[in-house]
Amino acid sequence: MRLVEAREGHARILVPEEALEGDPSKAPVFYNPRMERNRTISVLVLRSYGRLLGRGMTICEPLAGTGVRSIRYSLEVPHASRIIANDANWQAYRLMKANVELNGVSDVVEVHRRDAVSLMAELWDTCDVVDVDPFGTPMPFLPAAITAVRHGGMLCATATDLAVLMGNYPRKCLSRYGAYVARVPFSRELGLRVLLAAVARQAAALDAGIEPMLSFWDGHYYRICVLVYKDVTSAKDAMDNLGYAYHSGGERGVVVGYPKAPRGDMGPIWVGKLGDVEFAGIALEEAAGPYQKQRRLLETLYCEYMAPPLYYMTHEVAVDGREPPLGLVLEIVRGTGHDAWATHFSSRGFKVGTRLSYLRALMSSTTW
Ligand SMILES: C[S@@+](CC[C@H](N)C(=O)[O-])C[C@H]1O[C@@H](n2cnc3c(N)ncnc32)[C@H](O)[C@@H]1O
Repeated sequence: MRLVEAREGHARILVPEEALEGDPSKAPVFYNPRMERNRTISVLVLRSYGRLLGRGMTICEPLAGTGVRSIRYSLEVPHASRIIANDANWQAYRLMKANVELNGVSDVVEVHRRDAVSLMAELWDTCDVVDVDPFGTPMPFLPAAITAVRHGGMLCATATDLAVLMGNYPRKCLSRYGAYVARVPFSRELGLRVLLAAVARQAAALDAGIEPMLSFWDGHYYRICVLVYKDVTSAKDAMDNLGYAYHSGGERGVVVGYPKAPRGDMGPIWVGKLGDVEFAGIALEEAAGPYQKQRRLLETLYCEYMAPPLYYMTHEVAVDGREPPLGLVLEIVRGTGHDAWATHFSSRGFKVGTRLSYLRALMSSTTW
């Protein structure tokens, strides 16, 4: 394997040449430079969570590849005191060891070559953070990951099977996530809510509840960071955040309540908040200096977490074929005394607490 050095955050990482030049999934050890933002936002999330805990944290990364994420946590998260980095692939294991040495963090980062599920199952209730970053779906790893995290700890997960979660393959979505979804103008949000609902149901099966701190869509992946509460009451309470989405004649909304599906709508989905406003505010404070570039996304999330579910697109409120710019829609809606929010799901998307028919009438009766 020919290695080249990549720099990411505070880390220097040896990666296979193929990972930078071709398809990262074809490289002998996986490294995807397009996931840098995922890792940087995760650094900010862990810095924020560490600040809230105010003590050292044990972090487990069961699917670590080159080790870049774990090494970045050791260098960039002040409260990261023990990191368990693991990959079943021999070459990944050896490269990870070399990268840990290269960055001088072997006192904090332990490197393992185990099956992720058996490793996490053994870590039962001991991890402050478990970060599952798989190929495709995190679902096969969730029961063990929830087992490994301690009561009140954080579970982070990435999903890259967006086509499934966004409704391109309804039968696959049903088998993998136990949810029915169709293609709709707000599919990007629906997919994230399907993922959160599946995580909530998996946690509930283990008598645990979840509370999203930060979750988002970023082009080719979803990322969720949730707190896990290991008690039966939290498991039951989390079920109150499940429901369904409807989309009829352009109108949309959510119906709270699970497991009954009203009128055969889409779901089950997570109808609760996608993230915590206060937590997003702390992450925003952390996004200073070298992390400035992440402020825009975090600012949008901070505001969006106050908004009701399911966004509209500006083309849905076009008048005589003219699509209004986003800024104008927000201004006109706010001018009527309603709140309106931009959404990170689309630069042409927005959220309001009113019906589409009202918005269309408003845009038609306003000169612009
Ligand atoms: C998407 S990559 C991880 C990327 C890494 N987290 C990062 O941020 O660069 C997924 C990794 O999981 C490893 N893997 C897949 N199945 C596994 C299993 N059952 N146990 C341990 N490692 C596994 C693969 O070898 C691969 O390196």
